[in-house]
Amino acid sequence: MSPPSAVGQNLVRVTAASSLAGPNYTDSSEPPAVAPVATTVPELAELDPSKVKITLTRNPKPFHENPGAPDTTTDHWITAKWNYKTGWQTPELKPSGPIDLWPAASCLHYATECFEGLKAYRGFDGSLRLFRPNCNAARMIISSTRIALPSCSPSALEELIKLLISHDAPKWLPKPGTCLYIRPTMIGTGTALGVQIPKEAMLFILAAVFPVLDAKPMRLLASRENSIRSWPGGFGFAKVGANYGPSLMAHEEAQSKGYDQILWIFDKSCQVTEAGASNFFVIWRNKDTNKLQLITAPLDNRIILDGITRRSVLEIARDRLTGTTGELEGLEIVERTYTMTDLIDAHKDGRFIEAFATGTAYFISPVYDIHFRGTDIQPLQKSGRYTTLIKGWLKGIMYGKERNEWAVVVKEVGFKTETIDETEVEAFAKKIRELKGNTAWAAALERVAREI
Ligand SMILES: Cc1ncc(COP(=O)(O)O)c(C=O)c1O
Repeated sequence: MSPPSAVGQNLVRVTAASSLAGPNYTDSSEPPAVAPVATTVPELAELDPSKVKITLTRNPKPFHENPGAPDTTTDHWITAKWNYKTGWQTPELKPSGPIDLWPAASCLHYATECFEGLKAYRGFDGSLRLFRPNCNAARMIISSTRIALPSCSPSALEELIKLLISHDAPKWLPKPGTCLYIRPTMIGTGTALGVQIPKEAMLFILAAVFPVLDAKPMRLLASRENSIRSWPGGFGFAKVGANYGPSLMAHEEAQSKGYDQILWIFDKSCQVTEAGASNFFVIWRNKDTNKLQLITAPLDNRIILDGITRRSVLEIARDRLTGTTGELEGLEIVERTYTMTDLIDAHKDGRFIEAFATGTAYFISPVYDIHFRGTDIQPLQKSGRYTTLIKGWLKGIMYGKERNEWAVVVKEVGFKTETIDETEVEAFAKKIRELKGNTAWAAALERVAREI
């Protein structure tokens, strides 16, 4: 796949001199040495998982299940570098470690960073699964191209994600009913400052230990009028880091007041958009039709993220909840703009039944209280019946209780630590001892020792 078109323009090289006659040329006049007529766009290498170079760790990390540990990442990560002249370089799976980044790197100055979040699930049948990884891979490209980072084949990205967890999950995800968090990331790198499309970039994928969550019901604090997460023409639809940093102060304020997340409100009309870094759903009875509706903000004005959990909730509800289910009334599934005034009216009329937030990290969390500029509103059910039903269905798919094509089984290979040959170690140590005795080498060795 080619890079974003703007990047592509940089690649046009002039290859032939012009035959255009310029003004006042005589026989003796020199035409310009080069002029923009014939152009060639060099072939850029695609991201190719089949060429991946694998280097397994010789120093495996001690296993732990502690998401609060200083280092939560597993033993390996995947990296792939890109530059505008040659495209993608060979991806590597290697021991996880720090990034080698120049201080002038584009991502550090111009927020050329985007990421994804998905999980690997250890099923109750022992199998390892990813949940709709193709959707994450496709969304990653939407995000990267929004901030002038390169594109890549989504299926190549998906393959690399699978490769990482096929190695690390056997050790790091042993228990049925648990999950690992996976974070594919792309950053603009390079060595020169300048507000321009990054000429170099890096993709990396890491996996991290994640707590088993039984999401507790949440309280939300509606955002202040002067605090806007996203706007039409902006980048709220993309999973770019620039969406998150500026939201942290509001989040902190919500937490310090005893709320769990911010409910992001947009515009003077007070449109309800998202809850924290999650999509937001309401179940209410429509004032005009008296029908029970599952409603969520739409994607068409591009101010919310096209959440994969959101999409799955909508699809499963359309499939299973539009007719009567046992004693549960059928739902109308609605994606449209709605406002806090609509919600407050529904609350006053006793029509606000359930609310919940959805996202990969915290999955589906019921919402039982919303504070909006002096008014508190609560749905009739704190942990609603529809919420519980939908959550149970999706969880069943993720952990393999229900067979479904959304859950992709990944074959595992694991990794063995290479044993070290003691004679090799002794020979190496001997060489270092010799060098240490040499004054020219001693300082350099000390520096290296400090580094490692
Ligand atoms: C702003 C925002 N909205 C919604 C979501 C939920 O998306 P998903 O269900 O794909 O995790 C996320 C998390 O990725 C997010 O960051």
